[in-house]
Amino acid sequence: MRRLTVPKIRERKKDGVTEQPLVMLTAYTARQAQLLDEHCDLLLVGDSLAQVIYGLPSTIPVTLDMMANHGAAVVRGSYHSVVIVDMPFGSYESSPQQAFESASHLLKVSGAAGVKLEGGAAMAETVAFLTQRGIPVMGHVGLTPQAVNVLGGYAARGRSDAEAEKIVGDAKALDEAGAFAIVVEGVVEPIAIEVTQAVACPTIGIGASAQCDGQVLVSEDMLGMFERVPRFVKRYEEMAEIISRAAATYAAEVRERAFPDEAQTYQPK
Ligand code: KIV
Ligand code: NA
Repeated sequence: MRRLTVPKIRERKKDGVTEQPLVMLTAYTARQAQLLDEHCDLLLVGDSLAQVIYGLPSTIPVTLDMMANHGAAVVRGSYHSVVIVDMPFGSYESSPQQAFESASHLLKVSGAAGVKLEGGAAMAETVAFLTQRGIPVMGHVGLTPQAVNVLGGYAARGRSDAEAEKIVGDAKALDEAGAFAIVVEGVVEPIAIEVTQAVACPTIGIGASAQCDGQVLVSEDMLGMFERVPRFVKRYEEMAEIISRAAATYAAEVRERAFPDEAQTYQPK
């Protein structure tokens, strides 16, 4: 099976209709990518690796090298999904030129097909600049975690008319600038639907609406790796319990000298 391409993803929405919703999950490591790849259309190397992998309090400290290295691991572990790498905070906002240097570095090191960046109308010029120079861009509007210090937290967006209008305007600006898809995160459902109807490219919802053209979740969230997750997360498994149980059994067996036993030890001929 040949790897999907960005144009194939973009074409899934035709004349405002997406028959088969796009499936995206985050991945940060090669083995995780291997396991998720066949089920997904897109794998996102999200800067959420800050919290998920590195135990950081926000995505602000994430570096270009972190994204490039995890991106490379995910590309090596997958052969079907389109791999998209998040541009980290501080690597793209100051100018389209800065964004191109950072994005081209990410693609060269990782082998990913495109990048995602946060922000709306203010980033439209940058999205056009990258797209016209060979770098596909996925947008990200609504709750944009890199702006946590401006937004003051991670609450859902679009509850006031002004905020709702801004989100719709942001998405339209990205769409017109050439974004091949737009993540719509943490917005009230009617606004997610309005955005989806307002743009030609596919929207990918997270804490948004089933009416979006696709969905994304942080894999560790939906796998039940964390005790506390946002309300919009559905836990499809309880992996934390499984891992904890395995570690407890291993620890008990080591302490009783029950592990290793015959099957796991080498004997001379
Ligand atoms: O970093 C991330 O995982 C993301 C998705 C949640 C959209 O940006
Ligand atoms: Na992100």
